[in-house]
Amino acid sequence: MNITAKTLPLGVIGHPVAHSVSPEIHNFILDCLEMNYFYCAYHVLPENLPDAIRGVRALGIRGLNVTIPHKEEVLRLCDEVDNYAMKTGAVNTVVNRAGRLMGYNTDAPGFIASLARSGVSVGGKNVVILGAGGAARGVASAVLENGAAKVGIVNRTRSRAEHLANSLHDCRISAADGAEGAQILINATSVGMKSDATPFTDFDSLAPDCVVCDIVFCPRETAFLGLAAKKGFKTVGGIGMLIYQAVIAFELFTQTKVSDDIIEKLFRRLEMNRSIVLTGFMGCGKSAVGRELAQMTGCELIDCDDYIVKTTGMTIPEIFDKEGESGFRDIESRCIRELSRLRGVIISLGGGAVLRRENIDLLRESCYVFRLKADVEKILRNTAGDTNRPLLKGKSRPEIEAMLDYREPYYSNCDYTIDVSNMYPNQSAKKIIDTVMNSDKF
Ligand code: ATR
Repeated sequence: MNITAKTLPLGVIGHPVAHSVSPEIHNFILDCLEMNYFYCAYHVLPENLPDAIRGVRALGIRGLNVTIPHKEEVLRLCDEVDNYAMKTGAVNTVVNRAGRLMGYNTDAPGFIASLARSGVSVGGKNVVILGAGGAARGVASAVLENGAAKVGIVNRTRSRAEHLANSLHDCRISAADGAEGAQILINATSVGMKSDATPFTDFDSLAPDCVVCDIVFCPRETAFLGLAAKKGFKTVGGIGMLIYQAVIAFELFTQTKVSDDIIEKLFRRLEMNRSIVLTGFMGCGKSAVGRELAQMTGCELIDCDDYIVKTTGMTIPEIFDKEGESGFRDIESRCIRELSRLRGVIISLGGGAVLRRENIDLLRESCYVFRLKADVEKILRNTAGDTNRPLLKGKSRPEIEAMLDYREPYYSNCDYTIDVSNMYPNQSAKKIIDTVMNSDKF
């Protein structure tokens, strides 16, 4: 990207905002279209929101996405808002049209567009929504607007469900106690985000052809969707809503159509039907590259060693002391088996996990397995002073070189090798995403 005096600013405001995938999505579209804008994240504290919006006018920022906790307050600071923003009481997109700030809600149409891509329409359907917060309000407005016959709101706190249903002033929507006969069931709670909890288990009560949808996109297949799929229901994950709300916002910002081809590329980049697994010798930078990948994709990063510590309640040196290396490897293989069942996460493996070929063979069945290759200088630099690596304790350079040589054939069993010796973590992560996008394993 070549930033000049003519480059136009776009961005997202939130608190927190560092986890946002929006910069990734918008800058990707900008790159595809070779447009002279840039998009970045601004961390705005609630007390600074009015100043930030004044700044949008003063600096001529062309467009902003708005995320938690500002969506409601920004509505009051816009000059005009669209129908969805009015109905949901929330603005997620602000467009600066020559100093007039126009507020939109693209979450609601983004949800409908995501269903449409999966061949699902809400018209005439019996829809049940789980949750009664801001997200549920957006989804409820969208399905009513698009012709749902009946909408039930099921929520842990029933009074909130009643409040939401009443506030939409539509006789088709009411609070409900279950999802009996639902033809479309939507999770609009936060349950399942970075956890294996599910907000619903009574799948036998649904209509046989029910479509089960989640707005949670991390992990890509939530426990809720996993259970629904096992019962034979068609499922739609949350990543489509994330992509389409961004695409619709982008079109409003730039008045430029985003082609289907670019949208498909975004899905390819973010859908993560398979998890990404990082292997490589200790100190090759798996954790740093993993963090970058998690940021770029909005996926959860799971460090296999941390997972082992969490599930055994012991530190890695303690396991080595108590069980020896082979005992540790048994525990590691069990944890890898568990992790291999997850979809759409980034898994960083311990350096020696490749020593058991069956670990990598298993992961390759369901994931993209990357080996990060670093030269011995980088490894020495990155592991200097680290006391949590029992296998490196007291090792000289030739000994480490010998270990590298010994492991080389094991590492070459991975799907892809990336030489990261001279790359920053963000460069390595970008290369991994590009490799995944072009992989015939996709
Ligand atoms: P948002 O604006 O993102 O939708 P919210 O207003 O906090 O966030 O709403 C979160 C929704 O998830 C609510 O419907 C909440 O239920 P309550 O109204 O009973 O609080 C639901 N939710 C969150 N955690 C939950 C849990 N552990 N079990 C069931 N529902 C939960």
